[in-house]
Amino acid sequence: MTTGSDGLVPRRTQVVIIGGGPAGLLLARKLQLAGKESIILERQTREYVLARIRAGVLEWGSVEQLREAGVGGRMDLEGFPHEGVGLSFSGRHLRIDFQENVGRNVMIYGQTEVTKDLYAALDEAGVPIVHEATDVMLHDLTTGSPSVTFSVDGVEHRIECEYVAGCDGSHGVSRSAMPASILREYERVYPFGWLGILSETPPVDDELIYAHHERGFALCSMRHSMLSRYYVQCPLDDDVSDWSDDRFWDELSSRLPPDAASRLVTGPSIEKSIAPLRSFVAEPLQHGRLFLAGDSGHIVPPTGAKGLNLAFSDVHYLFEGLVDALAGGSTTGLDTYSDRALRRVWQAVRFSWWMTTLMHRFPDTGDFDRRIQEAELDHLSMSDAAQSVFAENYTGLPY
Ligand code: FAD
Ligand code: PHB
Repeated sequence: MTTGSDGLVPRRTQVVIIGGGPAGLLLARKLQLAGKESIILERQTREYVLARIRAGVLEWGSVEQLREAGVGGRMDLEGFPHEGVGLSFSGRHLRIDFQENVGRNVMIYGQTEVTKDLYAALDEAGVPIVHEATDVMLHDLTTGSPSVTFSVDGVEHRIECEYVAGCDGSHGVSRSAMPASILREYERVYPFGWLGILSETPPVDDELIYAHHERGFALCSMRHSMLSRYYVQCPLDDDVSDWSDDRFWDELSSRLPPDAASRLVTGPSIEKSIAPLRSFVAEPLQHGRLFLAGDSGHIVPPTGAKGLNLAFSDVHYLFEGLVDALAGGSTTGLDTYSDRALRRVWQAVRFSWWMTTLMHRFPDTGDFDRRIQEAELDHLSMSDAAQSVFAENYTGLPY
């Protein structure tokens, strides 16, 4: 357990943040810089959180938020700004240039590194982070004095606060603290998963390649010059043990255009996992003094690289509302948080759904559907307007 500088769990704070993933950590950092108090309660150990291989693409708004929060130094040194992305289909490679279309980039910098940088800044500033917090429960959310109880090493604690931020991801407790009568949930489950591997090999290309292929979707991504991240679409009921490294490399290479496949450097995987794909939105993101941010309120399939970035845009809106309210000023920012955040969330949900539908082979994809996908990709290749729309969404809509 990590706590405040005196080693004790405080009994009172301004904001209890449930979840020490990117959303919770960035919110705590922004509050700390604004002179506001918070405590993070995280169910896992720090080692566990840092071992999770997740996102790799930061929108420009996320990059700027990290810089403003004083945690962009290593990202600017070690991250890779990408000025475009490749889409491959029908044996062709289409490059969409972000700079030319919208004058913005994305940054390749792993979620693990973002998380590490945020933990380091919070530790230095003495913000209390309680790890291995179990049985987290939220109380009195519709009163002026909510509280959160939890246990660490079998000892129960209670923290009184002014607000609770539910940043505990899709399997957290915060969303379930909202009454079913006010909650509306929207969901689409996709009939396939992504099998991902990490390998200490040079990336096949300088930029990401999203591949549409009759055998299924594939994605070539990276973390740095000697660390590649690759994915192939796979059936939902496949198990990681069904996929030897050799089988993975053969499948990936068969889904890439021949020139990319010929450049592919293979090697042993150092991580291999299967993720299901889902779109999900909970509305509203507020109940009394509880506010949901990030994956606790919404999930997107990874195709548009939007999950982490949405967690950060939520934090931007929530932070604005919290600082005003905590300063004793207006609560308008908090009152409008859910609507403002959800407006941007639905744009990213739409883009992620569109890209998933365009790039994957669905079990019931017939010849007609395949030709429609190809026609849409062909339209992207011939239309500057379509490429601008893609670039605008991929690099991130403004906050
Ligand atoms: P999380 O990262 O899930 O953090 C929530 C935290 O809360 C966790 O640390 C969890 O341990 C903790 N917690 C849970 N329950 C409790 C509890 N009861 N009490 C206390 N703590 C609790 N996004 C992108 O933007 N770009 C990408 O390229 C991208 N690629 C992805 C690839 C894959 C394979 C996957 C799986 C995801 C990808 N994402 C991507 C999505 C991105 O990783 C998530 O959207 C992001 O982690 C959300 O951050 P969060 O802080 O909201 O939630
Ligand atoms: C990744 O690098 O893990 C990654 C990149 C782009 C995506 C999804 C995942 O769309």
